[in-house]
Amino acid sequence: MSRALIIAVDGPAASGKGTVAARLARHYGLPYLDTGLLYRAVGLAVLDAGGDLDDAATAETAARKIDAAHLEDVERLTDRGAGEAASRVAGHPGVRAALLDYQRAFAARPGGAVLDGRDIGTVIAPDAPAKLFVTATPEVRATRRWKQLTGRGEVIAFEDMLADILRRDERDAGRGAAPMVQAADAVLLDTTELDIDAAFDAARRIIEAARARMGKSNA
Ligand code: DC
Repeated sequence: MSRALIIAVDGPAASGKGTVAARLARHYGLPYLDTGLLYRAVGLAVLDAGGDLDDAATAETAARKIDAAHLEDVERLTDRGAGEAASRVAGHPGVRAALLDYQRAFAARPGGAVLDGRDIGTVIAPDAPAKLFVTATPEVRATRRWKQLTGRGEVIAFEDMLADILRRDERDAGRGAAPMVQAADAVLLDTTELDIDAAFDAARRIIEAARARMGKSNA
């Protein structure tokens, strides 16, 4: 049986992975899941209930209730507070376990799928035939996120944005449960010097090489 085109896109905050993943999904006609939204939804659910983000049981209970309906308010899910809350609840193994089936089922869709996050190539879809690890310098990532957030009215100093990014990198890469790490078979894509079109082009070439390998192994 031929393998489905599962594209795993991992990397740190504001590396460009979401934009690249969404464009790859459009290009190949595949469904796309931004898995960061799941963790953001859990963080917001805990905050909305007045709970403590660092309390594992509270966060896991919230995670067990997350479904597609919680992913609709993208504006709120992508604000600064939600990103910070997501990174904190994402460190609880119980939260990660609660969100596993949803992500694995999405990855297993018959025609394939594109998922982006921190642990897609390592934990969610370790057998994905195409894996990217998208990165850029912290300064460039902070500049992108700062422009995005100030562009829609959030008030934030650049230095605070950079500190946010560095703190999140450290927390996401340093946690015990499914830390952010490049999978051994993922291709590194550094977008520091690339605009969106150039990053997408580079990503598409990497996926085409993976598809060529799939074609050979299916033959
Ligand atoms: O990709 P993002 O910035 O929307 O993710 C928000 C946070 O969620 C991130 O700091 C860590 C966590 N996350 C995770 O631990 N694993 C994923 N697959 C996706 C996100």
